[in-house]
Amino acid sequence: MSSKVIAIANQKGGVGKTTTTMNLGYALAEQGKKVLLIDFDPQSNLAMCMGVDRPEELDTTIYHLMMGVIEEKELPSKEDYIISNGKLDFIPCSIELSAVEVNLVNAMSRELTLKSIIQEVKESYDYIIIDCMPSLGMLTINALVACDTVLITATPQYLSAKGLELLLKTIIKVKRRINPNIEIDGILITMFTQRTILSKEIVKLIDEAYGKQIRVFNSKIPASVKVGESNLRNKSIIEYKRKNKVAQAYIDFGREYISYE
Ligand SMILES: Nc1ncnc2c1ncn2[C@@H]1O[C@H](COP(=O)(O)OP(=O)(O)OP(=O)(O)O)[C@@H](O)[C@H]1O
Ligand SMILES: [Mg+2]
Repeated sequence: MSSKVIAIANQKGGVGKTTTTMNLGYALAEQGKKVLLIDFDPQSNLAMCMGVDRPEELDTTIYHLMMGVIEEKELPSKEDYIISNGKLDFIPCSIELSAVEVNLVNAMSRELTLKSIIQEVKESYDYIIIDCMPSLGMLTINALVACDTVLITATPQYLSAKGLELLLKTIIKVKRRINPNIEIDGILITMFTQRTILSKEIVKLIDEAYGKQIRVFNSKIPASVKVGESNLRNKSIIEYKRKNKVAQAYIDFGREYISYE
């Protein structure tokens, strides 16, 4: 199986990374793709959205796997750490992952730790989507090294060239030094309201800053309170309220995403 690893990243908090991980994952799974989500944020928002209320009580999370690699132990069998939630498989995270950042500093091949975990499971999936934390520290670097492509989510308010510039610089650094094949899928605008800023203006803003090098997806994700409700019910918005405009937007985005491949 030729699988693709996507890192959903932006060091800015609250721009729809976790929501997009879950809903793009669901949209792709609905198209018959085999999808694994990886919660790679110590806040464990994805684990909670997927119905794990107390991730710190789990025996095996991405934290344990990362520590296992650092300590050069053999990884447990997949059934011990991959959780299935209907259409989607996922690996949860717990707050302890924040401690790994310190351990990584002295680890050999520290940037490659997550990649070696993904290597073990890659063959079984069409898509592996990593939900990154809102920072550009060593954990996010691990995700950028492990991925084939980066999907950037941004709200219209946080499209400021400054914020994106830092992220793009980091991606370029990773590309030069350690993951030459990394590519940027593009920018997905989330929590879009017509009042804030128009699509055309967003594209113009980004084209002006980056000279048309970066795709802005046609699909834009509108804002809706139903997203919070679906999270509380541990469901993707597509499963929870299929007719909702956000659900439809993520279904469209899934199709658009695949069409560029
Ligand atoms: N389309 C949307 N409409 C309304 N609310 C949304 C939408 N997308 C996400 N939200 C809400 O906005 C908040 C932030 O979204 P999300 O957790 O996906 O962002 P994030 O980038 O993963 O945040 P963090 O950086 O903290 O991990 C959440 O409460 C989420 O439920
Ligand atoms: Mg998140």
